[in-house]
Amino acid sequence: MNNNRAKWGSKLGFILAAAGSAVGLGNIWKFPGKAFEGGGGAFLLMYLLIVPLIGMPAMLSELAVGRASDSNVVDAFRKLGHKGYSWVGWVGWSVAFIITCYYSHVGGWVLRYVFSYATEAHAVYADPLGYFYAMLGYNAAADTTFFPWAAIGFAFLFMAICAFVIIRGVEGGIEKFNKVGMPALLVILLILFVRAATLPGAGDGLRYMLSLDLRKVTPQTFLIALSQAFYSLSLGMAIMITYGSYLSHEENIEKNTFFVCTMDTLVAVVAGFIIIPAVFATLGPDGVGKGGGFAFVSLAGVFEHMAGGVFFGLLFYLLLLFAALTSTVSLIEGIVAFLIERLYWKRTPTTIAVCVLMFCIGCLYTCSQAAFPIKGIWFDFANGVTFPAFCDAMEFLTDRVMIPLCALGCCVFVGWAWKPESAIAEVERCGDKFRFVKAYSFLIKFVAPAAIIVILCVSLFTGTTLS
Ligand code: PFF
Repeated sequence: MNNNRAKWGSKLGFILAAAGSAVGLGNIWKFPGKAFEGGGGAFLLMYLLIVPLIGMPAMLSELAVGRASDSNVVDAFRKLGHKGYSWVGWVGWSVAFIITCYYSHVGGWVLRYVFSYATEAHAVYADPLGYFYAMLGYNAAADTTFFPWAAIGFAFLFMAICAFVIIRGVEGGIEKFNKVGMPALLVILLILFVRAATLPGAGDGLRYMLSLDLRKVTPQTFLIALSQAFYSLSLGMAIMITYGSYLSHEENIEKNTFFVCTMDTLVAVVAGFIIIPAVFATLGPDGVGKGGGFAFVSLAGVFEHMAGGVFFGLLFYLLLLFAALTSTVSLIEGIVAFLIERLYWKRTPTTIAVCVLMFCIGCLYTCSQAAFPIKGIWFDFANGVTFPAFCDAMEFLTDRVMIPLCALGCCVFVGWAWKPESAIAEVERCGDKFRFVKAYSFLIKFVAPAAIIVILCVSLFTGTTLS
């Protein structure tokens, strides 16, 4: 046991930090759009089955590996006697690194919109798409491009806030930050939910989200729901291994897993029940779209058409901001913890160095959105070698290949190398019996790996992004 490693100061501290990691842009920004595409109720139903059957066993496994090894993501596998699985940790660490590069920039855009709604909501309303493009360095009216100062400046600020929290450490920074951020997020979520549900015409959206269109229950929708669940629960990036390693032995991993997964799912579902009814009520079903444009462009129409829209718009972007901050903090902690332990670096300079590096790489992500034609390179069996925009290539790499690979490695490691019995023993170390021994062993050995292999194959052979 390495007594020098940080530990959570309280039970609540861990729960809120883990939930803070899970509840992110994925819940509020990606989930509603996917739920809409997936037919509302049909998608919800699949998602609600996937979380307990695949997400919970996978999260429990990552937490158990972290706590048992008491180690960062790369060394965890070696410490548990399986050096051959260290590659899983390397992949996880690399995913966290790449994702942080762009996640922090999108966080910066959110911060920009908090300021926009606070100071010039009329400008956003006047031309939502033009405003969004202008942030990214593209003047749509004149068809000219320029350096995206707004997006980059706010991304810098966003990264600086995260770095500050990480430098303060696990208990003094991450835990304290989440203890404020997460309750704030829940309160805002509730206020927005009440506002959306009471909009005239919101009933159509609510009905859509609850209707079960069985034609939408397709393998494709299932895979999209599955990928979304992994992303949303922060799995396949070895974050839960790092956070699990700060967990004391008295803690009940089973209960914690249950709580974090439930909370994450609840936030995603409630976000769906806010956004879809609000869009139906103000713009109609055609207003729903996916991706960045949706959160930043379509929603302007929603807030413009609702009473108190500027206020609720500001609240919405604050909600997104808290969600993005707590998730980015978890990603950076996973990256920094490894460097500190492996290379004996100090926390403060390490944090500053990686944050600066990730911010700079992220600039390429933001610049390649609209301002400059920076290209990446990609390969899949359906399309061969292609040269997508740099920002797309980054997301393809993490979403299509690396996250599923790391998640698969974790499941196979626990299911077949370390063995479910070891994870179960780790869970029971707190003195409580683990209630789902048989189901857990079966799910982690067979169901989760099989499902992830399908995701990987579909991504590589058909060239589609499922997450
Ligand atoms: N779970 C986060 C979301 O839903 O946005 C994304 C994420 C954050 C994934 C941190 C992984 C992670 F380590």
